[in-house]
Amino acid sequence: MEIAGLPQLREAFAADLSAAYRGHVRAEHVVVTAGCNQAFCLAVSALAGPGDEVVLTLPYYFNHDMWLRMAGIEPVYLEPGPDLVPTPEAAEALITPRTRAIVVVTPGNPSGAIVAPERIAALAEVAARHDVALVLDETYRSFRDTEDPPHALFSDPEWARTVVSLHSFSKDSPSPATGWAPWSAHRSWAGRSRSCSTAWRSAPRGSARRPRGPGSRRPRSGGATAPGRSPTGGTGSAR
Ligand SMILES: Cc1ncc(COP(=O)(O)O)c(C=O)c1O
Repeated sequence: MEIAGLPQLREAFAADLSAAYRGHVRAEHVVVTAGCNQAFCLAVSALAGPGDEVVLTLPYYFNHDMWLRMAGIEPVYLEPGPDLVPTPEAAEALITPRTRAIVVVTPGNPSGAIVAPERIAALAEVAARHDVALVLDETYRSFRDTEDPPHALFSDPEWARTVVSLHSFSKDSPSPATGWAPWSAHRSWAGRSRSCSTAWRSAPRGSARRPRGPGSRRPRSGGATAPGRSPTGGTGSAR
C-alpha cells in the first residue's frame, strides 16, 4: 500500500508546486493525506510530542490549537503586528529549547492576512537558525489575487530541512469532490528523522475553471471567503 499517496499523484503535485512556486519540489517531498487538518496532525505529531512547545500565530486556526492541546503539546501564542502579520523578531523571542515549530497560516484564517514572501523568508530564517520547523498552512493560497508564488522557500534545494507546507484540495480545487490535503513536511515523517512532504491543487494553473480574485471563490461547504474577510471554519483565539 502506498501510505504516502499514489505515486502518480505525488509526482504530479510535486511538478505543479515546482511550477507554481518556481522551486524544487520532488515526489518524495509529498505526502497525501485525508484533508489538511490530518496533514497538520501528522506533521505536528512527527515534529513534537507531549511537553514540547509549538509557536502558534494569533489569531490561530482553531483546529491547530485544538490538536496541539489534544496531543499534549503546549501552544505558545505569537502576537502579530498591527497588520496581523507575525514578525520574525516576535517569533524568535518565543523560542525555547522545547520549541519544535512555528505555525503560520497564510492567507490567514480567521484573519485573512497574507504574509509577504520576504516576511515568510525571514520567518524561515529564524526557524532554520533555531533548528525548528516552519509550518506554513497554505490552504487559502489560491484565494490571493495573484498567481505570483506565495514565497520563494522552495527555490532553496534544502528547503525540506525547515519547511512544512500544508495545502487543501477542498479549498484549493474547483472540484467539490476532493477532500484530501497533501502536506509538505520537512524533517520527520516517521519517527523524528528528517524527511519531507508537500501539497496539491488539482486544476492546472490558469484553468478557466479557477475563478480569480477576492470574492470570486465560493465556499464548498461553509468554507472560506477571500482574504481580507474571515474565512469561516476558523475562530482563532476568540472561540
Ligand atoms: C487554515 C485551514 N487549514 C486547514 C483547514 C482544513 O482543510 P481540510 O478541509 O482540507 O482538512 C481549514 C478549513 O477550514 C483551514 O481554514
